[in-house]
Amino acid sequence: MKKNILVTGGAGYIGTHTLIELISAGHSPVVVDNLSNSSEEAIRRVEKIVGAEIPFHKVTVQDIPAMRAIFEQYSFNAIIHFAGLKAVGESVAKPLEYYKNNLDSTLVLLDLAKEFGVKKLIFSSSATVYGTPEELPLKETSRVGVGITNPYGRTKYMLEEVLKDVAVSDPSFEITLLRYFNPVGAHESGTIGEDPSDIPNNLLPYVAQVAVGKLNHVNVFGNDYETIDGTGVRDYIHVVDLARGHVAALNYSTPGVHTYNLATGNGTSVLQLIAAFSKASGREIPYQIAERRPGDIAACYASAAQAEHEIGWKAELSIENACADAWKWQSLNPDGYAGPINA
Ligand code: NAD
Ligand code: UD1
Repeated sequence: MKKNILVTGGAGYIGTHTLIELISAGHSPVVVDNLSNSSEEAIRRVEKIVGAEIPFHKVTVQDIPAMRAIFEQYSFNAIIHFAGLKAVGESVAKPLEYYKNNLDSTLVLLDLAKEFGVKKLIFSSSATVYGTPEELPLKETSRVGVGITNPYGRTKYMLEEVLKDVAVSDPSFEITLLRYFNPVGAHESGTIGEDPSDIPNNLLPYVAQVAVGKLNHVNVFGNDYETIDGTGVRDYIHVVDLARGHVAALNYSTPGVHTYNLATGNGTSVLQLIAAFSKASGREIPYQIAERRPGDIAACYASAAQAEHEIGWKAELSIENACADAWKWQSLNPDGYAGPINA
């Protein structure tokens, strides 16, 4: 059934990829984004890919009158809430900004959802809620909340708790907590992708900028972990697979709170990822071993069996696909959305 979906943060990295999957599944997304970490050009490019206009409102979610007007204008069947600040280091420097933005936006949305009877909500959570993993692969039932090292991660943990409380108070709510592992890659067209505003903090966009010649070399943060080659291991998931997870969650209708890891189940080390990107790009990627990054853990990967059993979703794209697509995006758009359209 076609659904009208409010997509907050829809101009961002994961949001734009999800818009494409929503539209190809026959849904009608409406985007609210204040463009604090994105640009309207991203929406324009999605419109080009899907061949349709997407209603877009440049609004901050905490702006209650503006949001109420949007709820009045459309009759939403569901909300996908991507909007949030996500830079770990910045959250340590500006905790109040993170708590205010991420918590307040979600509380405002919940109030409006209640007021307008929108009972289905999908929330962008993160692997970060597991803190220091007590077991690997992580399962949805694994311990959460212990060893979270930064305010960003704590906002995700706190919001999961808030959403669970809301679902208890009103059993007609259908809330899905999607715990993303490490999103990477880009749409195969090479016209949309991750567009960090500064020097990237995350590994894959950093590697991509080294490959394209914007940065000199990758600093590998530690090679003395207890992992396959001593470097950190993560569960990198193609952003298109992740986007499809939202469509699967949307199609599954049952009251209460449901939590899913969106992961591949496979761990990839820093050196393995550099090698895969080098192969995909045909470029040499110089690297140097550096100190461990404070707050990092050795390994983090997860089972997504629960998502497969309950919502019929599993990751299908490989790390090679992700590197090839990220390279296409990076090489065609070395300056991200600020540059000319080369694709
Ligand atoms: P992004 O920064 O590209 O997208 C977030 C979007 O939200 C941006 O377009 C930004 O302008 C917008 N925004 C932020 N605060 C807003 C507000 N108050 N009102 C309106 N718009 C607002 O990030 P992303 O990578 O697409 O992440 C989407 C969500 O997934 C975030 O909640 C993030 O915390 C979560 N997440 C991301 C990752 C990751 O590695 N990318 C991992 C786990 C979870
Ligand atoms: C980081 C965040 C986490 C967030 C996740 C996804 C921290 C402490 N954690 O996690 O909260 O949910 O991104 O966005 O920042 N690496 C290098 N060199 C680099 C960059 C990274 O060696 O220049 C290594 C890291 O040590 C790690 C791996 O690459 O082993 C992946 O790093 P990154 O992409 O930052 O993701 P996470 O550490 O998983």
